[in-house]
Amino acid sequence: MNDEDRLLNPRPDNDDQQVEKSLRPRSLSEFIGQEKVVQQLRIAIAAARARAEPLDHTLFYGPPGLGKTSLSNVIANEMEVKIKITSGPAIERAGDLAAILTNLQKNDILFIDEVHRLNRAVEEVLYPAMEDFALDLIVGKGPSARSLRLKLPRFTVVGATTRLALLTSPLRDRFVAPHRLEFYSDQAMCEIVTRSAGILGVTISGAAALELGRRARGTPRIANRLLRRVRDYAQVVAEGPISLNVARTALSQLEVDELGLDENDRRLLRAIIELFNGGPVGLSTLAAALAEEVDAIEDVYEPFLLQLGFLQRTPRGRIATRRAYEHLGIPWIERQPPSEEGGAIQQTRLF
Ligand SMILES: Nc1ncnc2c1ncn2[C@@H]1O[C@H](COP(=O)(O)OP(=O)(O)OP(=O)(O)O)[C@@H](O)[C@H]1O
Ligand SMILES: [Mg+2]
Repeated sequence: MNDEDRLLNPRPDNDDQQVEKSLRPRSLSEFIGQEKVVQQLRIAIAAARARAEPLDHTLFYGPPGLGKTSLSNVIANEMEVKIKITSGPAIERAGDLAAILTNLQKNDILFIDEVHRLNRAVEEVLYPAMEDFALDLIVGKGPSARSLRLKLPRFTVVGATTRLALLTSPLRDRFVAPHRLEFYSDQAMCEIVTRSAGILGVTISGAAALELGRRARGTPRIANRLLRRVRDYAQVVAEGPISLNVARTALSQLEVDELGLDENDRRLLRAIIELFNGGPVGLSTLAAALAEEVDAIEDVYEPFLLQLGFLQRTPRGRIATRRAYEHLGIPWIERQPPSEEGGAIQQTRLF
């Protein structure tokens, strides 16, 4: 399957990047859903502002397209500070980071996307910068080399990652406020579709917005993408606003099913069921069978299938659940008793 062409891929494509800027919420009050995170940020921001201090180092983690980058920009707006945007892979050498750090002003935000991809040498520079607002430089070479400590202005690192597990623990520990972003509720998704339609100047009925939101895998980026595709359909084929009927027909033409799964999701589930007898199957074996990258499976397909309860992760691999069989219309056969599963888990812990 081609990652680029995938309508329901939560990773951004080129079109998204252009439209997303205009659709991005700018303030906390414009930000729909994620109530727990928003509430915590609201308090943290008010407290920091009252003390005229920078916000604590903040980490956003969760599947792609849920609003990590948006929230980082929102924080900068709410704090009324500048935001410098970079990413883990973009900072190649310790010197690159040193250059960025020495250009920061008091209370600025340094946003590091894909923060799990920082290399070790760069991380070493980041630790004292985050902890003591200090930059340790080595001056000179050989036995006469000495270390020089440069004071930095107090600033905030906002990190974003889709893969919390890949973050080194010393780095994770330096984020005072980690926030996990969740898939959005149907109601929040409906509000997001309605808001985006307003910005794009598209007429959509409430029922159609709910339907679009419901099938967008709890992911605003996908909702916005579906909205644009359905808008095209409404304009060209249906020649009118987006009604529930138009939305349904357009979505079925795009092969997005009732639950928001597409052919690729179904192919993955079918592979586990038909090629591996329902699992457990190891991730790399599954990836090979599908001619997919392990990363794509973990980042793109799995989170939502796990959320739906169609897939289970066990120490021995992935298992397709009864719900997955039912959704695909494949007869369910009773599988190993749970005690055997328990045994496997215990064994992993022991050794
Ligand atoms: N709460 C929200 N309300 C309205 N729109 C949102 C919200 N969250 C995200 N969006 C929309 O979804 C798009 C994608 O969000 P964003 O780029 O912030 O996701 P991300 O988590 O940074 O993704 P990635 O992991 O790929 O970097 C944004 O352009 C924005 O239009
Ligand atoms: Mg992002």
